[in-house]
Amino acid sequence: DEAKLKRAVIERVSAKLNKKPLEVAKHPIGIETRVHDVKKMLENGSNINGVLVVGIHGMGGLGKTTIAKAVYNDLAQGFNGATCFISNVRENAGQPNGLVNLQKQFVGDILKEKNTSLGDVAQGKIVIKERASRKRVLLILDDVDNIKQVDALAGGRDWFGSGSVIIITTRNEKVLLDGNVKQDEIYKPQELNEDQSRELFMLHAFNGEQPQGEYVQLSNQVVAAAGGLPLTLEVIGSLLSSIKNVKEWKDTLEKLKKIPHREVQQRLKLSYDNLEDLEKKIFLDISCFFIGKNRKNATYMWEDSGWFPNAAIQVLVQRCLVKIHVINTMYEKYEVFEMHDQIRDMARAIVDEESYGKPQQQSRLWNNQDCWDLLQRK
Ligand SMILES: Nc1ncnc2c1ncn2[C@@H]1O[C@H](COP(=O)(O)OP(=O)(O)OP(=O)(O)O)[C@@H](O)[C@H]1O
Ligand SMILES: [Mg+2]
Repeated sequence: DEAKLKRAVIERVSAKLNKKPLEVAKHPIGIETRVHDVKKMLENGSNINGVLVVGIHGMGGLGKTTIAKAVYNDLAQGFNGATCFISNVRENAGQPNGLVNLQKQFVGDILKEKNTSLGDVAQGKIVIKERASRKRVLLILDDVDNIKQVDALAGGRDWFGSGSVIIITTRNEKVLLDGNVKQDEIYKPQELNEDQSRELFMLHAFNGEQPQGEYVQLSNQVVAAAGGLPLTLEVIGSLLSSIKNVKEWKDTLEKLKKIPHREVQQRLKLSYDNLEDLEKKIFLDISCFFIGKNRKNATYMWEDSGWFPNAAIQVLVQRCLVKIHVINTMYEKYEVFEMHDQIRDMARAIVDEESYGKPQQQSRLWNNQDCWDLLQRK
């Protein structure tokens, strides 16, 4: 009848309106082949219960989230709004009520229910399983590090309807295997090859233009030292774009070479070390308190302290240490801070180091447990 039709139309339209494509990367390189690889794996996977699963595994900064976003954008159209991209599962699950809140996101995005009360994780599982098992869904769990997270959000293939697609990214392959993802469903993206690495580096270091003179040779050496890891290429490239003399380029290259490939955070710290004092402070503040928070509120606070936040933020964005994400809802538009998890962890390690394990000497208390311990002691 008419009412039913109306509701169906509203649901469809609002589903489409709320689901914009995700921003993939500032300068995406070689993404199509990676998306193609994942889609091939989905087609050839074990297809248990009609549900297609692919795990994406690799080290931090390799491009797993980027690939997951690109796959999501590619497939989302076919799911009629029943799509859900759960970001930063590791970080969010660790917050108070973390897992339940992630389950609520699923219920909101896929089942379109805003205020369902889930009580606890066990109840959340029952709701999801009961209500999604006849739905064809596209679900991305990005950056999981514990089987409990997979269990809470996608505890079995019988939770979802036939034709559903589940993509899980992680640095820890064991989580995938424990979650019953089969070896032939695990995608291990390669690092960027030399040409791709050079291209990404040039885009960040020279805005895509050709370097001149000594910088040609130096660029090649930096690219070789960066070892095909997109995050390193991006951060070191943007750092070097702000350095205009050969000597400092050489110094940076030497430092980079000394830090092993796997020590990604130490490599990223080269960019932090190069910041001015106020930029450093604002950067650390963002990493501890303002990720996902409104830029305006934080800016007022820094201005009150006599800092110059807007100039500093511009530098941090240019260095790819911080990203600004525009939130655009039906009612308002505002900017929030984003930070890559490796960069965030690098920053918080700097804050922790200041105090050598004594939270009361720390400049910023970001850890719930530390705050609680300290308050109890007073
Ligand atoms: N193919 C690519 N082309 C251009 N930039 C890329 C590419 N892949 C990744 N990047 C950039 O490199 C950075 C790291 O990528 P991404 O966040 O996807 O890594 P990750 O594997 O998810 O890391 P983590 O395990 O820490 O979550 C991002 O800023 C992203 O924009
Ligand atoms: Mg990631």
